[in-house]
Amino acid sequence: MATTRFLTGITTSGTPHLGNYVGSIRPSVRASLASNVESFYFLADYHALIKIDEPARIQRSTLEIAASWLACGLDPAKVVFYRQSDIPEIPELTWFFSCVLGKGVLNRAHAYKAAVDKNTAAGNDPDADVNVGLFMYPVLMGADILMFNAHKVPVGRDQIQHIEMARDMGASFNHLYGEHFVLPEAVIEDNVATLPGLDGRKMSKSYDNTIPLFASREQLKKLIGGIVTDSKAPGEPKSTEGSALFQIYQAFADEAETAAFAKAFAEGIAWGDAKQMLFERIDREIAPLRDKYQALMAEPQRIEEILLAGAAKARAQATPLMRTLRHAVGLRPLGAGVQEAVTKAAKAATATLKQYREKDGKFYFKLLNAEGVLVLQSTGFDNPKAAGQRIAALRAEGVSALAGMAAQVDVAAVAVNEAAVAEALGQLG
Ligand code: TRP
Repeated sequence: MATTRFLTGITTSGTPHLGNYVGSIRPSVRASLASNVESFYFLADYHALIKIDEPARIQRSTLEIAASWLACGLDPAKVVFYRQSDIPEIPELTWFFSCVLGKGVLNRAHAYKAAVDKNTAAGNDPDADVNVGLFMYPVLMGADILMFNAHKVPVGRDQIQHIEMARDMGASFNHLYGEHFVLPEAVIEDNVATLPGLDGRKMSKSYDNTIPLFASREQLKKLIGGIVTDSKAPGEPKSTEGSALFQIYQAFADEAETAAFAKAFAEGIAWGDAKQMLFERIDREIAPLRDKYQALMAEPQRIEEILLAGAAKARAQATPLMRTLRHAVGLRPLGAGVQEAVTKAAKAATATLKQYREKDGKFYFKLLNAEGVLVLQSTGFDNPKAAGQRIAALRAEGVSALAGMAAQVDVAAVAVNEAAVAEALGQLG
């Protein structure tokens, strides 16, 4: 059976918490042990620089995240485990993609748009406090993924758009320079729990409601003591529905344990006792990992060596690929074999307007110009006919059809660069 290559990055901007463990580390480590998969896991420290300008925090987080994944059973002999900044080919590929991706695509990236919307709402300059790194975030991520020809990218829902953009970059590059890249797919883990935090909202650094994965026993107990509950007295039946305490327990317990815990709720267990049970259940799973974590944290040099060995494995693929790509785009030695320049016109370039279906079940269309650059991207339609009608209108009426569409599709999702759309429509075969 052919192996499937999984790849995912973890931004080195904080200390791993129980939500990261349940939602990402535990399922990823399990998945990496399967026999027909190849896994690439890396510390996205270039991405971390976008939002963190405290060098000590970047370094500390890199160490903590690496130690956490290793302590939780990631086997560096079986997976390729590396640090993004040890792979200089990644920023080089980022530049190549920057030159084939339309700027309008990045204007529509969620994270950038959210920053712009916030500024606009506050009456500030739209780009106030937005660094170019934030704008380029999806391009760097595309390079991370396509560099290693990953098939599947396990990510949270908020990252789906980035995977779509990675596909666009790969498709544009392939169209222009030959088939070099596999187009990746997002994998959304619907069956792993998103863990509630201390206040009942999703456990997240940005809500400051987390329980550090490797808090000491004492600290863990104390934090669990602080999980919000209602004010029902001991003896009063308690609802499991909407109970953060219950949901966290469930993420650690098996079915029988969960059923017993639900029964205790119905029978009116005191909140203090329920918290004690939760604490013991989590600690049972985490304690052995915590010991490994402490041992690893005491030997940062060992982790450094593991990451460098991982980088060597990753570069064994990245370096030759980059050599091929440099040649493909024309960054070539001049010594011998300089080719005659063939003009674009002589290549009889054609644009493409295609309709396709995505994993979300919706129907989309997009227009790539003759260079393979995406110039128009629709939002999702519920049926193929709706998408097809708009394609027909574009073919028949040209760019003027866009005006009619703006009312029906999300205007923001339609390329605003009408000149580019008009040119590409003129190049359709
Ligand atoms: N953007 C991802 C996150 O915030 C981290 C990341 C960077 C990533 N590069 C990646 C994830 C490549 C998957 C693949 O979660």
